[in-house]
Amino acid sequence: MVSFGSDNHSGVHPEVMAALHAANEGHVSAYGDDPWTREAEDLLRQEFGADSVPILVANGTGANLIALQSCLRPWDAVVCSDVAHINVDEGGAPERILGSKLIGLPTPDGRIVPEQLAATCERIGDEHAVQPKVLSLTQSTEYGTVYTAEQAGALVSEARRLGMKIHVDGARLANAAAALGISLGEAAAMFDADVISMGGTKNGLMGAEAVVFVDPGLGDQAKWIRKATTQLMSKHRYLAAQFIALLSDDLWRRNAEHSNTMARQLGERLVEVGVALTQPVEVNAVFAILPEPGELQAQYHFYEWLAADEYRFMCSWDTTDTDIEDFIAAVGLMSGN
Ligand SMILES: Cc1ncc(COP(=O)(O)O)c(C=O)c1O
Repeated sequence: MVSFGSDNHSGVHPEVMAALHAANEGHVSAYGDDPWTREAEDLLRQEFGADSVPILVANGTGANLIALQSCLRPWDAVVCSDVAHINVDEGGAPERILGSKLIGLPTPDGRIVPEQLAATCERIGDEHAVQPKVLSLTQSTEYGTVYTAEQAGALVSEARRLGMKIHVDGARLANAAAALGISLGEAAAMFDADVISMGGTKNGLMGAEAVVFVDPGLGDQAKWIRKATTQLMSKHRYLAAQFIALLSDDLWRRNAEHSNTMARQLGERLVEVGVALTQPVEVNAVFAILPEPGELQAQYHFYEWLAADEYRFMCSWDTTDTDIEDFIAAVGLMSGN
């Protein structure tokens, strides 16, 4: 079955699988004391800065928790979009494990704008009020939109004026960097990010993410936070081997460019057959209105979104032209075209 449900419905990219096989030889020390981990960390430092502190984790929720925990005091809050993954799709883990308040700002396209911050932060310094300390931005956003360098710059300068730290949830940072034609490091630098959750699983890995502390001071406690939040994998070489593959020969960009291109094609074809899109297609997500898609849902997997009749379609590193044309034919049959 072809699924447009999510970009983690696809399998593992063959180059990643080959890297896992190659790593599957002999004995090495566990918990990251191995040559694969050293190489993966070196590659991450090459992307995000020689002084940055990278650590590998098993999933994106864990990456976000570790990144945020490293920035927060007990009385601090995280400001994010109301549709942010940390706010609506992590089962309350940030609130439960961080013990911190999340302040979700309304964002019709997933992007926060600078004007929203001042009102949220007007009680900074008031001992009776929670202190908004971290601005968590998702790039690309949960609505498949991308902050431009200009938008990011304006937002970040306002956040800095208010004394906030910047976290980027980059579960799909690769898709944004590919769309903007920049490197991963430039995609982080656009936000002057203190810490990034760098995605891998949605871009062809079997299951590995990284937390990169661009501000090395923030990374001091990260290894203990990772262990205490159950994110330290013992057979760590397999996480690392995946990241080595992703960061070698531009695999991250090839995969992201492919899934972005497929989504653009899907969006264009849907419009051609009379389907309205609710968001611009900037990366690998398409949001569209489909009244009564019942039969289509028996054939394809995709999620209903927030607005009435709105559905999300994600493309992956392995989505093909044929997948799209078959799907468009099925949409045409449904609407009698
Ligand atoms: C924006 C974003 N952040 C983080 C995650 C990480 O999720 P998981 O914990 O399932 O790896 C996801 C996955 O859907 C996501 O879309």
